[in-house]
Amino acid sequence: MIIAANWKMNLSREQALHHLTRSSQLDIHHAPGHQSVFFVPACYFGMAEEILSSAGAIGWGGQDCHQDEAGAFTGDISADMLLGFGCGWALIGHSERRQYHFETDRQIAHKTAHALKKGLRVVLCVGESLADRQAGNNDAVISGQLDTVLVYLAEQSVSTANLVIAYEPVWAIGTGNVASLAQIDDMHGHIRDVLDSAAQAGTDNPILYGGSVNETNGAEIFSLGSVGGALVGGASLDAEKFASLCTISQQK
Ligand code: 13P
Repeated sequence: MIIAANWKMNLSREQALHHLTRSSQLDIHHAPGHQSVFFVPACYFGMAEEILSSAGAIGWGGQDCHQDEAGAFTGDISADMLLGFGCGWALIGHSERRQYHFETDRQIAHKTAHALKKGLRVVLCVGESLADRQAGNNDAVISGQLDTVLVYLAEQSVSTANLVIAYEPVWAIGTGNVASLAQIDDMHGHIRDVLDSAAQAGTDNPILYGGSVNETNGAEIFSLGSVGGALVGGASLDAEKFASLCTISQQK
């Protein structure tokens, strides 16, 4: 399973140092078959590299990655910059990027293609709004978000081997309203169908669930065969809590 921490715009320098140091010492993140990933703010890439590179199996990455090589894009971060700090991962298309930075499916497709071409593993986020869910449009919204990326990757002959999908219903993020097991299982099944009908043969891309995952609800979510891990916001900000969640995922 992949258990990924999305710190978003949280933690002071001291708190980040404490978290990464403590996490690097916890055996749970080094268990065989388990992958912990820390999506840290870009200003902590150097810190993550220094602390986690000696810790072996733990991955780290950026919360976004621009689609161009370099240039006049104030405030943006390139794939080469991530790679320069040992990042192996990029989080792309998070609903907060879609909402606050007006990222479109097309732009997210370009970012995903660029990051994959550069050798990064990409966690591509998809998710429907509450209005979409209430109107019964959830499957169509997710298909649309995914298809735009998958079609573009195929056009560009980019392999999907390093692509991970995170299903994060927008209404479940930071709200405590975790999706029901049936909703998660149904949507993961739908995502698997979309991947199978579009993707290059031979890939078995993990599908993570995100949205109010914590140590209380983790066990039942991880018990679903369709769930390949979690993308965790609030419950990832404390090193011990996040490690507990990783422990729970390994007890599946
Ligand atoms: P929460 O776990 O805080 O709901 O955040 C989920 C998320 O957005 C992870 O990317």
